Amino acid sequence: MSNPSNNKTHMDAYWMPFTANRQFKQTPRLLKSAKGMFYTSDDDRQILDGTAGLWCCNAGHSRSEITQAVAQQIETLDYAPSFQLGHPIAFELANRLVSHAPDGINKVFFTNSGSESVDTALKIALAYHRIRGEASRTRFVGREKGYHGVGFGGISVGGLVNNRKMFGPLLPGTDHLPHTLRIDLNAFSRGLPKHGADLAQRLEDIVALHDASTIAAVIVEPLQGSAGVVLPAEGYLQTLRDICDKYGMLLIFDEVITGFGRVGNCFASQEFGVTPDIITTAKGLSNGAVPMGAVFVSEKIEQTFMTGPEEMIEFFHGYTYSGHPVACAAALASLGIYERDKLFSKAHQLGQYFEDSAHALAALEHVRDIRNYGLVAAIDLESREGKPGERGYEVFTECFRRGLLVRVTGDIIALSPPLIIEKSHIDQLFGTLSEVIATCK
Ligand SMILES: Cc1ncc(COP(=O)(O)O)c(C=O)c1O
Repeated sequence: MSNPSNNKTHMDAYWMPFTANRQFKQTPRLLKSAKGMFYTSDDDRQILDGTAGLWCCNAGHSRSEITQAVAQQIETLDYAPSFQLGHPIAFELANRLVSHAPDGINKVFFTNSGSESVDTALKIALAYHRIRGEASRTRFVGREKGYHGVGFGGISVGGLVNNRKMFGPLLPGTDHLPHTLRIDLNAFSRGLPKHGADLAQRLEDIVALHDASTIAAVIVEPLQGSAGVVLPAEGYLQTLRDICDKYGMLLIFDEVITGFGRVGNCFASQEFGVTPDIITTAKGLSNGAVPMGAVFVSEKIEQTFMTGPEEMIEFFHGYTYSGHPVACAAALASLGIYERDKLFSKAHQLGQYFEDSAHALAALEHVRDIRNYGLVAAIDLESREGKPGERGYEVFTECFRRGLLVRVTGDIIALSPPLIIEKSHIDQLFGTLSEVIATCK
């Protein structure tokens, strides 16, 4: 096959997601293989993966355990319907997953992506209240800067304007908490910032405006990733939990990014000591190898559905590929690696070194904030006059040219490497990034 980067017409048919298609196709960046901490580009350069793909390859790339499990599963049972039928490893996976979940969260509904997990969680919340005779609870509260995928539910509760503005009025009846990025108070914080827990009290104002009897659920990422790593202040999440309890609103944590070890426990809920009613996941669940998502639900919620006639379907929802056998095999093999290599605690072991290495960039010109938790960090750069995003994009492309993959949101550089990272990789990551930032005047 010809090298597509040398053949522009070869690239015409593919409309790429979240990409400046015309610009990309003039100067493509192509990855042709991956192993462990590194991608190989189409021109045979080693690219250190500073982002675990898109926050998903937590155990590193092309793990042979996953490859073998997937190959064997396709050979044994390539597909089986999950509506009114089952296959054994979906049950096995659900049991294994709940053994890692916070206490009281012990039911799992399978999806194929983070967006589907979010839609599923919102629908569970609506139906839950309706079954309990509180059908007036139809509103959702999300948060500014929130990213909950790209389904209509997810963009309605999400808070990133570019993801919302083209798509009409969205779901009716959503409201948004203020975001928690307070650089004025918390610049260069390490771990959870000290200031801003009071922002959670704004939920009281939203309740006062709409009345609790109209609100089904509050959905937030415990740590916002896609917006450029926005952390909750100490105590913020607990206040949300308390207010939700006070008014009978469900609390949903979107852990699509934070799930499966990113912040030093299997879930951020455990790391931050706040248990929601529903947790949405995807990405690290199957190490990014096969698309898969899962919604974790408290027993109380699931049992609410199990009250009608036993021959009735309790929840009219599901996907052709819910609990796909190949995805289940990939997820089981991923869990096997996470457990055996204790990857969920890796962010605790290396967190301090990662944090110190990130904050060593503080003195560089144009760095206006550095934020981090576990194996996540953001280097927030000043925008060029009248050209927001230009410096960030330049850092991204220059890092790639020098063999490092970072993620940019505007002028924020986000880092979330695979959890198998070692100190030498951390040195390479921040060494390259520091040189590049210094050149992007
Ligand atoms: C918190 C969060 N929720 C949902 C999603 C959507 O996941 P997907 O792209 O798999 O639909 C993402 C993706 O980055 C995410 O970060």
